[in-house]
Amino acid sequence: MSPVASSPSQDFGPDRILAVKSSITTRFDWDYSTKSPKLRALYEKGKAAQWNAVTDIDWTPQMQFGAPLRPTTELRGSHARRPAGFPLPEDMWDMYRWEYHSWMTSQFLHGEQGALLATARLVETVPDLDDKFYAASQVVDEARHVEAFSMYVERLGHHYPINPALRSMLSNVVTEDRWDIIYLGMQIIVEGLALAVFRLGHATSFDPVIRQITDLVARDEARHVAFGVLALQGLYDDLTSREIADREEFIKEAALLMSRRFRLEEIWERVGVAPAVGVEYALTDPVMRDFRRLMFAKIVSALARLGLLTEGVRRHLEELALMLPSAHR
Ligand SMILES: [Fe+2]
Ligand SMILES: [Fe+2]
Repeated sequence: MSPVASSPSQDFGPDRILAVKSSITTRFDWDYSTKSPKLRALYEKGKAAQWNAVTDIDWTPQMQFGAPLRPTTELRGSHARRPAGFPLPEDMWDMYRWEYHSWMTSQFLHGEQGALLATARLVETVPDLDDKFYAASQVVDEARHVEAFSMYVERLGHHYPINPALRSMLSNVVTEDRWDIIYLGMQIIVEGLALAVFRLGHATSFDPVIRQITDLVARDEARHVAFGVLALQGLYDDLTSREIADREEFIKEAALLMSRRFRLEEIWERVGVAPAVGVEYALTDPVMRDFRRLMFAKIVSALARLGLLTEGVRRHLEELALMLPSAHR
């Protein structure tokens, strides 16, 4: 059976185009020799690992948005069963799960477009050619991710606009002229979070098609996060305390924005729960708090490797309940 059409018939309304102006320094590198064999090796891996969203995914399993879902006891993860204190009755649990699924896959789609544009920006701004090569190959990966999720959302027949906090985050990243901060925002924070969410989606989703997509995409994202860590490793040893403080501020703001999206405000509005009630639930439910910490674990370890898990950053992440307070302070 032929795959679903990828033409974007989703109606995103009058806000279809977001135009963001920025002033960027584009750098050429006239030294074509390999300066980072590790980056070149990653680039080779990326070239060999290409897949095709149209032909490498089995799009044939049927789905009907809103249909009864299989018993949740078969699933692991945060949607295994309706939690105590959930602000909707049991008979609306499946409906919530469909809305959550639609919201989450829509945010995957929008976030992937952010990755596409941010990595294109990296090609222009990073000084070394090894980085430009890898970033260029990632641009192709991200285009494929946008394509795959766009086809998926089309198939689902339901979508959400970009979450306001995610939109702010992506705008911050693509207007940034300091190339290391583009790496930090996209490769370490947005991609680190995406990798964790995709892996969870692969393990727990009720839909076999999204499990295939998130599996393929997560393999690429693992490479992308590795790229960010490789590119930035050692860089922060030589910065002034003022420059480090700027990076700390960026990380704190990014963590706040990325955790804010998990308040799920748009879903509460759509399922008829008062936003204040829904947000309170999202902030306090122990399963959701664990979920957010789990999602941020990859980011925390990448920041630690880069020397950016400073006391200030750590305290901020603890206050946002994105990591457990360290026992040894
Ligand atoms: Fe991606
Ligand atoms: Fe990526």
